[in-house]
Amino acid sequence: MEYCKIFSFLLLIITKMAAAATSEHIPTTLEGPFLPVTRSFDPSLRRGSDDLPMDHPRLRKNVTSNFPEQIALALSTPTSIWVSWVTGDAQIGLNVTPVDPTSVVSEVWYGKESGKYSEKRHGVSVIYNQLYPFEGLWNYTSGIIHHVRIDGLEPETKYYYKCGDSSLDAMSEELVFETLPLPGSGKYPRRIAFVGDLGLTSNSTTTIDHLIANDPSLILMVGDLTYANQYRTTGGKGASCYFCEFPDSPIRETYQPRWDGWGRFMEPLISRVPMMVIEGNHEIEPQAANITFLSYVTRFSVPSKESGSNSNLYYSFDAGGIHFIMLGAYVDYNQTGDQYAWLEKDLQNVDRKTTPWLVAAWHPPWYNSYSSHYQEFECMRLQMEALLYRHGVNIVFSGHVHAYERINRVYNYTLDPCGPVYITIGDGGNIEKVEVDHADDPGKCPSAGANKPEFGSVCHMNFSFGPAKGKFCWDRQPEWSAYRESSFGHGILEVVNSTYALWTWHRNQDIYKENSHGDQIYIVRQPELCSIGSKGTRALPSKLPSNVGATFMDPLLATLLCCLMFFLAWFERNK
Ligand SMILES: [Fe+2]
Repeated sequence: MEYCKIFSFLLLIITKMAAAATSEHIPTTLEGPFLPVTRSFDPSLRRGSDDLPMDHPRLRKNVTSNFPEQIALALSTPTSIWVSWVTGDAQIGLNVTPVDPTSVVSEVWYGKESGKYSEKRHGVSVIYNQLYPFEGLWNYTSGIIHHVRIDGLEPETKYYYKCGDSSLDAMSEELVFETLPLPGSGKYPRRIAFVGDLGLTSNSTTTIDHLIANDPSLILMVGDLTYANQYRTTGGKGASCYFCEFPDSPIRETYQPRWDGWGRFMEPLISRVPMMVIEGNHEIEPQAANITFLSYVTRFSVPSKESGSNSNLYYSFDAGGIHFIMLGAYVDYNQTGDQYAWLEKDLQNVDRKTTPWLVAAWHPPWYNSYSSHYQEFECMRLQMEALLYRHGVNIVFSGHVHAYERINRVYNYTLDPCGPVYITIGDGGNIEKVEVDHADDPGKCPSAGANKPEFGSVCHMNFSFGPAKGKFCWDRQPEWSAYRESSFGHGILEVVNSTYALWTWHRNQDIYKENSHGDQIYIVRQPELCSIGSKGTRALPSKLPSNVGATFMDPLLATLLCCLMFFLAWFERNK
């Protein structure tokens, strides 16, 4: 009996030590592939929240006349940055009169000392119209949207700036930003935030407040920004069922003032931290004359020309030792198209000595085990996956699905130590609810006719190999799905060096607790194992890398062995 008590005591100590080791341990992808883990939605949380009203303090216009508002930064080249803002008033109604964009000049003053602006640059002023010539719908014409490129910037340096029109005595207050390290410097942006499907709800405010608290030096917005096309005030009627209210309207109206509200909501963050955007399906916003994406492409400056792209819908850029590729899922992605040709060229020009990390982002995920949007962008995957694999893309970020999921390294639905890590971060908190159903849950496998993409064809398939052979859905969480959890949130990537990067998913509820976060992992590049630029697909390794599990198992095993030896010695002495 006494032995039992002592053995139980030892077991308790071992368990506590193992628990301590586990809580301190941050796994690495070297330990993968990981067994699938699902954390369900916490029912004490709200699955969704309402849109913020247009008169909310964070959405209201707080400047007068021609003073700048909605100020935003975006990277252009490693030594230049875009500054964008809006002046004047947008109009919405049956009859709108576009203003002359040249009536307000686009001017930025900047320098390295507060209050002293050694440099001045001018840029362009534009407007756009969103027109719905159908009975009962409202048209929109924007305020003046300004874009100025400021150049000659030194790396890792604080710059003070003002924007506006000095001839109208309408310059902004002084703002400040810090430039990123140069490519080839062996340095990386301090903290990169990733957020998708943000919207403009009270959940969105929690996400952005949390993101601001996490102090990013760069932001990637992976599509579906404002959800202006779902705002209930369409036609000024607050229609809850759009096509019931407007049965003869061939196009759904989007409520463009939401974009202005979103610009104001984001300004405190993105007027001091550059934000790089890629479009989602909610940015398509079809209007008269088959025009699409007009608000998105007019409002945001992206380095398309700088990266050799002829479209604002796909581009690339460098930030320190990372080359980012931003792909368009709602524009031709076929191997015969312009985007693919641009991508091939862009990838060929990547120098991994200058930018060891290669990170890609586009809106709809290729690997997704939730019911929502399941296999929706298989056509895009089939066209582009091999090219990205051959060039050794390390991480892919997507949104579209309103939940979190991290995928084991994978290629063509097969675990592969050289495939990218895919992360779905479409949990920004928009008006649509958080996704809770998995395609492998009983009765939740979508029908083959569901999940049609808003662009491109349907390439749904039944699996020809693996546990789901012959089926459209798995009957359990797929082996490529490492971790999934239904919650709103955002993520932070901290690149440590040329091979290690720490990824942390921050759930919205973590904002209320000290040192609390969701999924966390070191993503590790293995250039020696995964040679870059080889042609064709790589064969699966015959066995997992020899260091799989070593980081976690070694201290735990040592602790267990030590305790067992101690117990045996004690037992020998006292028997
Ligand atoms: Fe989406």
